[in-house]
Amino acid sequence: MRVPNHIAIILDGNGRWAKAKGMPRGYGHIKGCANLETICDDIKDLGVKYLTVYAFSTENWKRSREEVEGLMKLFRSYLKKCMKSAEKNHMRVKVIGDPSAFAPDIQEKIRQLEEFSKDYDELYFQIALNYGSRDEIVRGVRKLAQDVADGKLVPDAIDESCFENYLDTAGVPDPDLMIRTSGELRLSNFLMWQLAYTEFYFTDVPWPDFHKEELIKAIEKYNERDRRYGGVKEE
Ligand code: IPE
Ligand code: IPE
Ligand code: MG
Repeated sequence: MRVPNHIAIILDGNGRWAKAKGMPRGYGHIKGCANLETICDDIKDLGVKYLTVYAFSTENWKRSREEVEGLMKLFRSYLKKCMKSAEKNHMRVKVIGDPSAFAPDIQEKIRQLEEFSKDYDELYFQIALNYGSRDEIVRGVRKLAQDVADGKLVPDAIDESCFENYLDTAGVPDPDLMIRTSGELRLSNFLMWQLAYTEFYFTDVPWPDFHKEELIKAIEKYNERDRRYGGVKEE
């Protein structure tokens, strides 16, 4: 079985999973967060080199104050626990998105985790927090425009690979497989530039129930795909 080099996952369905059990949405987030810890281990065991997860979008602030506060609490404890996971899996962790909207202590935890794990190179784990693809592109364009204004970059030098360096994912290869759990068939503002030639896998399984067997199923489906990148396969 060919293992994708980079898997991206939209962790969706925590709320509905909890509701179906007669529990509050926050309970789903707690279980979803626990599942993320296990999936990191499974991804490492399978030999995947890059994992990116969508954990909080630029649009998720629209949710109730109670839900957002619950999520912030969970991020605080998760970012702390993630240090152990980074150490165990020799995993480098990078947060993508705009952290400036988070409370200063969360921003500090992100900084510490990134610093602590920066020399690990067995798995590269990107966590998308306050991430939106449009926001990422606009922030990148702003930095690029500044470099042009400062005379560090000439417009003629701007091509796709130059532009990629201005994205949060600079230096990370594009995902090979994108998984979205819980039945929705959309991107919800996730990695729109990076997913240009990625294979998509959608499953009805909600994120808290998405375990190693489901991950293997997704990789098996990926193995059936014929990636042509616009070309024609030689007969
Ligand atoms: C994903 O689960 C987690 C976040 C977006 C933070 P949801 O909270 O979107 O769960 P559903 O989709 O409402 O069931
Ligand atoms: C996308 O899920 C964002 C995350 C999983 C973090 P949403 O649940 O926010 O997306 P929509 O609202 O169903 O499109
Ligand atoms: Mg959702």
